[in-house]
Amino acid sequence: MHRLLLSLLLSAMLPAGLALADDQQEAVAAFATVQQVFQHPRCQNCHIPGDSPLQFDASIPHAMNVVRGADGKGAAGLPCTTCHAEANPPDSYGPHAPPGAPHWALPPPAHKMAWIGLPADQLCQLIKDKSSNGGRDFAALLKHVGEDKLVLWGWSPGGNRAPVSVPHDEFVAQFKRWADAGGPCPAG
Ligand code: HEC
Ligand code: HEC
Repeated sequence: MHRLLLSLLLSAMLPAGLALADDQQEAVAAFATVQQVFQHPRCQNCHIPGDSPLQFDASIPHAMNVVRGADGKGAAGLPCTTCHAEANPPDSYGPHAPPGAPHWALPPPAHKMAWIGLPADQLCQLIKDKSSNGGRDFAALLKHVGEDKLVLWGWSPGGNRAPVSVPHDEFVAQFKRWADAGGPCPAG
């Protein structure tokens, strides 16, 4: 039989579910990269269950008793923006100057978006759960991780801080692969 015809016949005979299963498996594998980024110190230091942001690679509590406050923007008398500007200060300010990016804050107390330390399955559920992620669908999430200035800061954090360990474009590509497949989660 003609080769091409044979392969066409064979592929038509493959169970349709197989290709789909492949897709889901790849998406779950892509989520491993998503997790690596979300739980990098540059990201997880703000995505915490407690009320003080964390700092450094060791994720230790922020100095000066800084707290989340009623809206995530800090205590009434000491908002984050007292110290954190819209951009990193010049290098001449030294490595311990407060880093900066637009809307520097913690998520609000009603939606803490706390994913530090979560196992993969729980992190995955939390990220896509609209009741805990600020009502974002996959498209909004993709836009957020691709364009949000505070997210982008993770790749140019200033001072001696290590940037997120996965290149931004690769992270976004893997996030998209996961999201396009409907955001399947690894088994718990
Ligand atoms: C300075 C604190 C801070 C840092 C650092 C930070 N975030 Fe956030 N993040 C926030 C705040 C505040 C919100 C809520 C914004 C809103 O809902 O308008 C948020 C929301 C999000 C959301 C949407 C909500 C959700 O649960 O899905 C995602 C996704 C996200 N951040 C990813 C990241 C990633 C990835 C990094 C690191 C590259 C990062 N964030 C670093 C403060 C931070
Ligand atoms: C009184 C000044 C001040 C206030 C107010 C303040 N910060 Fe900071 N913050 C700093 C300084 C300074 C650093 C850098 C410390 C260093 O590198 O030694 C810092 C670092 C950080 C980091 C560390 C980034 C990393 O990954 O290591 C995060 C996250 C952070 N602040 C979040 C916040 C949030 C959120 C608020 C408001 C709720 C806030 N800060 C309020 C001064 C402040």
